[in-house]
Amino acid sequence: MRKGARYITTMAEAFNDLALPADKADRYATVAGEIASVLEGEPNRVARMATVASMLANSFAHYFWTGFYVVDEAKGDELVVGPYQGTLGCMRIAFGRGVCGAAAASRQTQLVADVHAFPGHIACDSRSASEIVAPVFDADGRLIAVFDVDSETPAAFDDVDREWLERILAQVFSKSF
Ligand code: SME
Repeated sequence: MRKGARYITTMAEAFNDLALPADKADRYATVAGEIASVLEGEPNRVARMATVASMLANSFAHYFWTGFYVVDEAKGDELVVGPYQGTLGCMRIAFGRGVCGAAAASRQTQLVADVHAFPGHIACDSRSASEIVAPVFDADGRLIAVFDVDSETPAAFDDVDREWLERILAQVFSKSF
């Protein structure tokens, strides 16, 4: 750093250099706190989704594709791709189709150890081997999206991922502004 130079470090830049705990639950707890700080005072839903996808994708080595499929309000029973990190995702998924569609239709988190054994799984990228998809609700309890994380490793996700993803999504999207 040049002597006398003034540097302004934003919270997001500080996060990129943060050393995260090795334990998965501790790491989720730290990232959840950082996400809350970064998003404080920001009501825009696209900004919130993009930030969650980026911060989680950059915090966990087992994440390969990380992002949102949002409910298409015009159709009601169809998801359309939203903010994500990773290789090109499919554009649209009908409720009930694949893992994302199952999460949207059932409003329940889907934890899939082997995507190839899941009926109707949609292979956007053949490298995906396991995934977790959690429903996302607004402050009125309406389904607004699903959050999809795929891994190249089989059975990469467990109840720690489920618990923390559900908690982070509730913290970020089920609050009114
Ligand atoms: N795996 C998902 C499709 C979306 S992508 O993997 C990005 C599914 O079957 O729902």
